[in-house]
Amino acid sequence: MIPYGKHYIDEEDIRAVVNVLRSGILTQGPIVDQFEREIAAYVGARYAVAVSSATAGLHLAALAAGVGPGSTLITSPITFIASANAGIYAGGNVAFADIDPQTINMSPASLKIALANNPNTKAVVPVHFAGLPCDMPALKLLADNTGAVIIEDAAHALGASYPNGGMVGSCQHSLMTVFSFHPVKAIAAGEGGMITTNDEAVYRKLLRLRSHGINKLDDALVLHSQATTDGEPNPWYYEMQELGFHYRITEMQCALALSQFKKLNQFITRRRTLAKRYDDLFSAFKNCRQAQAAGRNFSGHHLYVLRIDFNSIGLNRVGLIKKLKDNGIGSQVHYIPVPMQPYYRKLGFRQDDFIHSVSYYRDALSIPLFYDLTDAQQERIVTVLQDLVG
Ligand SMILES: Cc1ncc(COP(=O)(O)O)c(C=O)c1O
Repeated sequence: MIPYGKHYIDEEDIRAVVNVLRSGILTQGPIVDQFEREIAAYVGARYAVAVSSATAGLHLAALAAGVGPGSTLITSPITFIASANAGIYAGGNVAFADIDPQTINMSPASLKIALANNPNTKAVVPVHFAGLPCDMPALKLLADNTGAVIIEDAAHALGASYPNGGMVGSCQHSLMTVFSFHPVKAIAAGEGGMITTNDEAVYRKLLRLRSHGINKLDDALVLHSQATTDGEPNPWYYEMQELGFHYRITEMQCALALSQFKKLNQFITRRRTLAKRYDDLFSAFKNCRQAQAAGRNFSGHHLYVLRIDFNSIGLNRVGLIKKLKDNGIGSQVHYIPVPMQPYYRKLGFRQDDFIHSVSYYRDALSIPLFYDLTDAQQERIVTVLQDLVG
């Protein structure tokens, strides 16, 4: 079975993890620090904070952005539920700004309306869907006008860049950016995430929140009498000054991610080549088209999504997925619009308010795209699809 996505592990990755197991330090050691330094340098951000998942990273980012009771986090309906849940975890409300049907990313026009409807919005979370960077200058202008900050959900977009050449993660258009290292993502840690920022106060807050709310670096102590004995600092002493979490990542996960990170350019180059080849091969098909019409030259190419004219092919999506499966080809739908989830419906969201997301959801299908998909496998996928949707 060819899956829609998967990781690629080599002997070097395995050695890197085994070396950590032999090193005696399994968590809070030098490899986590090195991974943070390397990601920060690569994307061009001042700070990076590694966490146990992008979900944890989005939660901490929402808190650091000031989302809380009485305020709102706005995200895209077409994302994994974690982007929206972050606002709820932080105690705030969630709202959605519909997608642009050409890019499947949050549309600036919809964000403008969502901001007007939610005057106490603290954070806007655009999602670089499938690795294609959002129109960040337009989104930032709108957020700036209302005092909201931007948290980029770059779970799909490590290695992607903006049209001006800056890397996603540099936070040139945002306060924070969050990456994921789940196995189907650009590089795998098993589970893992990273938050980047250029803001020192935010960085310090993220470090505290990641580890129980305990003071970090040279954060000022509050209770000096407890912290010292006869004027000397107590060596065991730490202070919890706010409520934090345990969202740390291990040395093993970071060793794997660092080893994978060495191959990132190779991974993305191959994904780009495969995506271009799909584009060329599907250009002759009558009943399907690439979901993201343009601008994918600098995408992270996390997913390859087709929009299929099911009315014309005489087969519904369940039938198509089944036929693909019978041919050993995996596929998936990214994503069910978040406001359609029962939890969000109960909060009062209606799908009629997100017409582009719902229309996209009706005809989208992700087909296999990953580093070691071979040319022969890709040709077979296209041949099978030719019969079914060509
Ligand atoms: C857009 C998006 N945001 C957030 C996440 C959450 O990432 P993680 O699994 O690392 O928590 C995912 C994961 O699938 C995602 O696709």
